[in-house]
Amino acid sequence: MSSGNASSVLGLFDTADALMEAIPQVKAKNLGRLEAYTPYPIHGIDDALGLRRSPLGGMVLVMGILGAITAFVFQFWVSAVDYPIITGGKAPWSWEAFIPIIFEVTVLFATFTAGLGMLLLLNRLPLFGHPVLASDAIKAITRDRFALSIEAEGEGFDAAAAQAALAAAGATGIEVLIEPDRDPFLTSDYILRAAGGIFVSCVVAGLIMYGAVKLFPVLPPMSHMEDQPKLAAQKADPFFKDGFGMQEPVPGTVARGYLPLGVSSQEEAAALVNPLPTTPAVLAEGKRLFHIRCELCHGPLANGTPTLTAAYGAKPANLQSEQIRNYPDGKIFWVITMGKNAMPSHAADLTVDQRWAIVHYVRALQRAQNATDADVKAAEAR
Ligand code: HEC
Repeated sequence: MSSGNASSVLGLFDTADALMEAIPQVKAKNLGRLEAYTPYPIHGIDDALGLRRSPLGGMVLVMGILGAITAFVFQFWVSAVDYPIITGGKAPWSWEAFIPIIFEVTVLFATFTAGLGMLLLLNRLPLFGHPVLASDAIKAITRDRFALSIEAEGEGFDAAAAQAALAAAGATGIEVLIEPDRDPFLTSDYILRAAGGIFVSCVVAGLIMYGAVKLFPVLPPMSHMEDQPKLAAQKADPFFKDGFGMQEPVPGTVARGYLPLGVSSQEEAAALVNPLPTTPAVLAEGKRLFHIRCELCHGPLANGTPTLTAAYGAKPANLQSEQIRNYPDGKIFWVITMGKNAMPSHAADLTVDQRWAIVHYVRALQRAQNATDADVKAAEAR
């Protein structure tokens, strides 16, 4: 025994049974924290010692929940309070979109708590080792002996009483362990050395990386997209004389599948004649397409009562108005094809025949909303 305070007293036992029998006797004397060191796990010893379950699981749970709440609150604040932008027509606080981040942050908080909590809190890093590892008995403990130690809990540890208790419980050897000197940990010297170590590792890793890249030049995983004949941005096209990749159409030609209207204004379009017959099939197709393409803005009755909110900004025309009812078919066809002010062109979405079918259906809507007595009588007569 050397100078210094006894931190724990270690009693050695020859068999696991002897140890298990000793535990309740020593525990009853209540001299300090009990700990057992055995060469292999002994069933039931944690209960006998009265060890509590590790608090780590609870810590991880709490921090995981905290992570989820943090992620939710953060995203809610960003997307519903600080910067409420509607994307994809969803309400800004659509929580479904927050789930991936909530999940990630939950995992982040939980894993960091598990890792750092275990190392720093429960394993007491940055202290390395444990007094028992420096004991004379440790070799025997890792081989065939069983040790029970009474460890000091705070001040007033009675090492003599602990030795007596272990001897009374049948320990065959007793060793008193001294509290090791623990220098203050975060000294400026330590910090400097740690920072220096990190710096040197970074430099060495950088140099190794540099050498590796030089020695083993980049092998792209897929080069066929990189090495294809293509026109890179801002580069001249070697194929065409003028160096442009995009060419004007050859004068006097027409793209396949595209016939020019042959008119160049809405007034001229008045002369166009609807080539489709007014059959139920054509009207049904016109109705279907009107419902898909036009109703949104012009309303189901084409009277300019849109499904859109005021956010659309423009006022869709009332197709039931006197003016439009008096339009020849061609002028309506022109508007669908070319668009007008805030109304977009539908040339790319609707074939020529589809556009004419819609014109028929608009006509039918106009008739239906402005029926005369004569119309009603004619219908009754049928
Ligand atoms: C995105 C909304 C929108 C859609 C979709 C839309 N329109 Fe329009 N439409 C408008 C607006 C806005 C005007 C008024 C344009 C103006 O005169 O400034 C208009 C005007 C018109 C006019 C009157 C043009 C004139 O000469 O005064 C006709 C006819 C018309 N639309 C038919 C249609 C048909 C048929 C469809 C479906 C193929 C359609 N619109 C789809 C917004 C729309």
